[in-house]
Amino acid sequence: MAQVFDIGMVGLGVMGRNLLLNLADHGFRVIGLDTDLGKVQALKNEGNRDSVDATTDAKVFLAAQRLPRAIILLVPAGKAVDAVINQLAPDLTPGDLLIDAGNSQFKDTDRRHQELATKRLNFFGMGVSGGESGARHGPSMMPGGPKAAYDRVRPMLESIAAKVNGEPCVAYIGAGSSGHYVKMVHNGIEYGIMQLLAEVYDLLHRGVGLTNSELADLFDEWHQGELNSFLMEITAKIFRKLDPKTGKHLIDVILDVARQKGTGKWTSQEAMDLQVPLLTIDAAVALRDISGYDVERAQASKLLTYAGPVLSVNKAAFVEQMRNAIYATILLTYAQGFAMLRKADKVYQYGLDLASIAKIWRGGCIIRASMLESFRMAYQDQPELPNLLLHPKIAEAVIKRQADLRATIRSAVGLGIPAAGLMNALAYFDAYRSARLPTNLTQAQRDFFGAHTYERIDEKGPFHTKWEE
Ligand code: 6PG
Repeated sequence: MAQVFDIGMVGLGVMGRNLLLNLADHGFRVIGLDTDLGKVQALKNEGNRDSVDATTDAKVFLAAQRLPRAIILLVPAGKAVDAVINQLAPDLTPGDLLIDAGNSQFKDTDRRHQELATKRLNFFGMGVSGGESGARHGPSMMPGGPKAAYDRVRPMLESIAAKVNGEPCVAYIGAGSSGHYVKMVHNGIEYGIMQLLAEVYDLLHRGVGLTNSELADLFDEWHQGELNSFLMEITAKIFRKLDPKTGKHLIDVILDVARQKGTGKWTSQEAMDLQVPLLTIDAAVALRDISGYDVERAQASKLLTYAGPVLSVNKAAFVEQMRNAIYATILLTYAQGFAMLRKADKVYQYGLDLASIAKIWRGGCIIRASMLESFRMAYQDQPELPNLLLHPKIAEAVIKRQADLRATIRSAVGLGIPAAGLMNALAYFDAYRSARLPTNLTQAQRDFFGAHTYERIDEKGPFHTKWEE
């Protein structure tokens, strides 16, 4: 077969197939590889044009591509990625580029990058966000790896990416595993925002009795304003959806046990290793875990009762408070995620540009939201900003909403409705803005029982006290 294809795609599942068709729509010639003949045939039928082909034969796949090759892998993260790399690598030519576009763990990406570099092969870890429809019509993409190799695929990636004001939602992220790292943090933020929205739903529905239809209207209204975001938009649609089986609202027949593939947990684990506080995201992971204890929860609901005061809240005022509370806590969740990227950049020397990351998250991805534009501007204004909350405009956006956030949390406590995400976001804010924390006591205790020493506010050096005579 003649070497006519611009790019190859390994894995013709939902994401691979759609990304491939997106590339073909933009004038690139793409060949797919999959072990499943059914998927290969389906693509050939659907593609139905010269610029698309597919095969189950790796040799045919490689022979059909122009050199140096660019091959996107969209196979499940983990062993499957290594299996594909091991299968293809012996037949690749130095200078070829492999792009792992799955949700791979960033440490695996570093390892693969090093292994392939010894064979003079380029390797990219590229976060892709936006799900099925994003892949087909414009995802946000986070490619990290050797810069020169990026320049080769840049026109292709820019043409298939989502666009905001004509600007593509893809940019070179940085060295090594930076692309997968940034996607991991994206997913951590995604977990945090989803948890916050779940709590708002609980407070408005169970707490003050808003119906699903009222919730749909409210989320739609929020989506039209400053809270404009993909997650707000789909949540409104979810509240409207009816179950064809029962005729009820579908949301009411969905089991309340949240599953996870693990990227949110990785974000929290990695944040602990870097000693970066990630309170909202930690709470989101923990709440998904608690949701899994459904049998125990059913038992506990009968035993651990709360006959606390029935709150008389003014519905309209509560909804307005909630709008400010959710805005402030979503902002605080992004702030935690971006602060983690700031630290990771120092530790791993990725060369991240946080303004550019905020920019490519404005469209295509699951956490796209209007407020990202203000983050982009803040980082553009102060590229070395350690934390978004230290930018006067961002600080102001939280400060003016904090009274409503505090009131919302007081109501949650009174109602006995769990609001760990909201509470942790506020706790992050309150801890971060405390010039003096009570951790002086922690230090004293460590010195008391373990002679771990402490530092003083008025003199340099470690000190130890004999606490008891
Ligand atoms: C995206 C999503 C995507 C996927 C999540 C789901 O950016 O398009 O984040 O990557 O839907 O991995 O994650 P959980 O199964 O862990 O909720």
